[in-house]
Amino acid sequence: MIDNLVIPNHIGIIMDGNGRWAKMRGLSRSAGHREGANTLKKLCLYAESIGLKYLSVYAFSTENFKRNKVEVDFLMNLFVDMFKKEFQEIMDRQVKVVFSGHRDPLPKKVLDAMDEITFKTKNNTSTVLNVCLNYGGQSEILDMTKKIVKQVQDGSLSLDDINLDTISSNLYQDLPPLDLVIRTSGELRLSNFMLYQASYAEFYFPKILFPDFLENEFMEAIVEFNKRTRKFGGNV
Ligand code: IPE
Ligand code: IPE
Ligand code: MG
Repeated sequence: MIDNLVIPNHIGIIMDGNGRWAKMRGLSRSAGHREGANTLKKLCLYAESIGLKYLSVYAFSTENFKRNKVEVDFLMNLFVDMFKKEFQEIMDRQVKVVFSGHRDPLPKKVLDAMDEITFKTKNNTSTVLNVCLNYGGQSEILDMTKKIVKQVQDGSLSLDDINLDTISSNLYQDLPPLDLVIRTSGELRLSNFMLYQASYAEFYFPKILFPDFLENEFMEAIVEFNKRTRKFGGNV
């Protein structure tokens, strides 16, 4: 089946529905997040096996700090555990991990784990996994604007030279545009996910909750992508 399909260059996943998945089973929200983490691991390995070049995942939004402390603390510990536990497999598969988002106010243990995995995987040559952690699309645009203004002020960049490449290279990560954005759980919104990069993405909103979004569902999203006609403003 993969043979006849175009694999998008860059897929983004808004991993939503862990809480509802747990609630339906009478479990704690933490159990839902743990199951979501298992699903993410499977999807990363699958993405690598089908030759996906870029996978961006929304792990924690700047707004998710509004959640209660028990849930936030659980998620922070889960990130650290995941990066440690899955590190060897990530290396074996040559996955390169990068992060998008604000460092502040992430706890030091999370920042250390992020820095370590970024450093150790920086020369890996397979799928790039961009983890959006304490990420907000609006903040990314604000931070990019400040970086560019600073360069203009210190004279290293002239106003006339600012173009779309300048913008891309001053975002958190210089990544190609998103081709496909998937949001699980039936919600029909972006919730501040990669606003700039999603300009011409195709959208796919399966009702399934993220922990149940496994390899077959991922492939179904790619099949659906293959049915879309992308026009990019032209008259194809
Ligand atoms: C997504 O699942 C995971 C994070 C936002 C970290 P949710 O926790 O938002 O799950 P629901 O939306 O409550 O079901
Ligand atoms: C978006 O999901 C953030 C992540 C998946 C990490 P939310 O569950 O936080 O989004 P809203 O609050 O429903 O918009
Ligand atoms: Mg949610």
